[in-house]
Amino acid sequence: MSQFAARIPRHVAIIMDGNGRWARARGLPRPAGHRAAMKVVRNVVQECSRRGVGYLTLFAFSSENWQRPREEVGLIMGLFLDALEREVADLHENRVRLRFIGARETLAAQLDQRMAAAEALTAGNDGLTLLVAVSYGGRWDIVRAARRLAQETAAGRLDPADIDESRLGEQLALAGVPDPDLMIRTGGEQRISNFLLWNLAYSELFFCDVLWPAFEVEHLQSAFDQFAARERRFGKTSAQVQAGGDA
Ligand code: FPP
Repeated sequence: MSQFAARIPRHVAIIMDGNGRWARARGLPRPAGHRAAMKVVRNVVQECSRRGVGYLTLFAFSSENWQRPREEVGLIMGLFLDALEREVADLHENRVRLRFIGARETLAAQLDQRMAAAEALTAGNDGLTLLVAVSYGGRWDIVRAARRLAQETAAGRLDPADIDESRLGEQLALAGVPDPDLMIRTGGEQRISNFLLWNLAYSELFFCDVLWPAFEVEHLQSAFDQFAARERRFGKTSAQVQAGGDA
């Protein structure tokens, strides 16, 4: 067993890309790819839960995904509604705490209400925290945080000199959640696509060519293995890290 075998990322973030291409490669319409994606989400949640990952953040729908054809957006929103209906009881039973991040006001009222109900039901759970990013964009998140700080400042409750990384971080969607240790992107593209821009500052990035509907436990294992073998320096030298930070 490697010396890193026990090093599990506390927070894993995933860009689940490649549903459309997976469907096309099989001569199926794009929606078939999104449907197949749901099964993989279930497996990955289960697997992360089993391995003791603390937080899993999934990029389900970006601020920019609203620009897709209307029928595709409608189908994806329908899938979210169905998933909430079908999966929440099981997640609750497995002590998963569910949270949604993103511009909730842009979602249909019915979806927003179901999300709120799922969050309330699972709020007290002590297992994996599953954060689902819907209508989320990293820039949106930072702009919203800046606006909130500006409001506090304008109201005289905050001195601009007191604004620092921690104050800004408290206003972000992932306030109170440790930064992702590992960010996985499937589907072959090597970019961040406006995901958690602030929080990914020091995350280890793992890009794989496998399309999301074909992503299996063995691929998750590869990502975890690579993560365990990397040296995280956070701006320090390797010697400092080896010596525990003070060399
Ligand atoms: C990515 O593949 C898929 C999306 C951006 C949207 C749909 C996501 C899901 C159905 C996963 C559901 C997740 C949860 C947590 C409910 P793509 O369509 O961009 O694929 P392509 O790059 O091959 O076109």
